[in-house]
Amino acid sequence: MKRLRKAVFPVGGLGTRFLPATKAMPKEMLPVVDRPLIQYAVDEAREAGIEQMIFVTGRGKSAIEDHFDIAYELETTMSGRGKSLAILEATRMTPGSVAYVRQQEPMGLGHAVWCARDIVGDEPFAVLLADDFMVGRPGCLKQMVDAYERTGGNIICAQEVADDRTHLYGVITPGARSGRLTEVRGLVEKPAQGTAPSNLAVIGRYILQPEVMGVLASQEKGAGGEIQLTDAMAGMIGNQPFHGLTFDGTRYDCGDKAGYIQANMALALERDDIGPAVRAFGEGLFCRD
Ligand code: G1P
Repeated sequence: MKRLRKAVFPVGGLGTRFLPATKAMPKEMLPVVDRPLIQYAVDEAREAGIEQMIFVTGRGKSAIEDHFDIAYELETTMSGRGKSLAILEATRMTPGSVAYVRQQEPMGLGHAVWCARDIVGDEPFAVLLADDFMVGRPGCLKQMVDAYERTGGNIICAQEVADDRTHLYGVITPGARSGRLTEVRGLVEKPAQGTAPSNLAVIGRYILQPEVMGVLASQEKGAGGEIQLTDAMAGMIGNQPFHGLTFDGTRYDCGDKAGYIQANMALALERDDIGPAVRAFGEGLFCRD
């Protein structure tokens, strides 16, 4: 079994749900407390042993490239003032560990992943959607890699969602369950209300075999007129092992304003530096009669 070394981060999306904040700034750069969403996803990938980060970007996303670059003026100025650069450590990529490809048109998640095919090559790879913000120990992708080492094949992160929310997700037709692993028998992207095969949804973490690129090459359009990763994955079922892993931790849907605020509140409360002040403020706010 080939080791998982590469991860694809589709970051070309327009972020319309956060306008006007995302008019001139990538949604992946929205901070949770003091780190942008994309940084959490990259840190999660590193923890899982990923060595090469592949960003599929689009117009107006250059802040992401700058974020993971060396900022000479900033570092020189900070060093000159005797300030530690430790806080910038995780933003640095070693040469060769990062690649950028451009998705010229927003044609869907499947198309974004397909844009990375030449860099992925003939290897298994991970896909991380930064707006699914996953908090766990170990991180979500590490939990998936641990499972992958036992099962091989394809693994997607799975989470039960309320019945009235299944139409917002890729949804799994579940087979046999063993602990946190569920065999995936079928997949459907954004089923119409009342037609979902279960309430086990696909969450934005995937470990996929390179053959999925061949399926994506047909460029078939699915839900919303977009080229869907879910449809391509469905085409792999039966040929290779395919499992859903229920993640042990908390997911915040940071593609949604309420989820994003919840992530900020939860992480702020855990922090030694600002936690007490935020807690005191929250208690005053919520306990008002
Ligand atoms: C994407 C995928 C969907 C998945 C979801 C998880 O949808 O297409 O299958 O369930 O991410 O967040 P999006 O949220 O981009 O519409």
